Amino acid sequence: METKEIIEKRRSIRSFEKDQIEDSIIKDILYDGTMAPSAHHKQPWEFIVIKNELIKNKIASFLIEKDLRMGKESSSSHTARVIKEAPVCILVYNKYEEQPLMNTLSVGAAIQNMLLSATDHGLGSLWVGNVCKVEDEIQKLLGKNMRLMSAVLLGYVKEYPNKPERNLVDAITEWKI
Ligand SMILES: Cc1cc2nc3c(=O)[nH]c(=O)nc-3n(C[C@H](O)[C@H](O)[C@H](O)COP(=O)(O)O)c2cc1C
Repeated sequence: METKEIIEKRRSIRSFEKDQIEDSIIKDILYDGTMAPSAHHKQPWEFIVIKNELIKNKIASFLIEKDLRMGKESSSSHTARVIKEAPVCILVYNKYEEQPLMNTLSVGAAIQNMLLSATDHGLGSLWVGNVCKVEDEIQKLLGKNMRLMSAVLLGYVKEYPNKPERNLVDAITEWKI
C-alpha cells in the first residue's frame, strides 16, 4: 500500500477475529516500531508481546476491578473487553526515567509506526493508553520494572468503524508568511 493509503486506512479497531497472527508478522511490526525517530537516538522503547490468554485476561480484569473500585464504568471496561478479544497485546515501555517528555514522544513515534505497519500487513490495531491506569498491577504480574507507556492490540479486523471526524487543517493552523 502507498503511505497515504495506509494513513487513511488505519482506524482504531475494537472488534477482532480470533485468528492468530504469525510471529514473523509481529516481529516485523516491532521492527517497524524501532525504525521510528527518537530524541538523541536513545531508542527508549522496550516491548512485551502477550499472546497468553491468561495474562491478557488478567490485565483486562485489573481494568474492570479499577472501574468497580471507582464505582462507575469508564472507558477502561470497554478497553478491557477489547484486550480480551485481541489475539495479541504488546505492552510498550520507556526504559529511561530522565527526559520524560522527549522519551515519551519517541515512544509515541514508535507506536504510530507500529499501527501503520499493522495496517500495511492487513491487520487491525488499537493504541491503548488505559493500561497505564493499572501500571502497578501489571508490574507486579510481569515483573518488568520500567515505565509503562501504552499497549498496542493487534488482530484481524472483525468490524471496521467509520472514521471519526477530524478538525479541518485550516481551522487549526496559523501561517506566518
Ligand atoms: C495516546 C492514546 C491512547 C489511547 N487509548 C485508548 C484506550 O485506552 N482505549 C481505546 O479504546 N482507544 C484508545 N485510543 C484510541 C483513540 O480513541 C482513537 O485514536 C480516536 O478515537 C480516533 O479514532 P481513530 O484512531 O480510528 O482515527 C488511544 C489513542 C491514543 C493516541
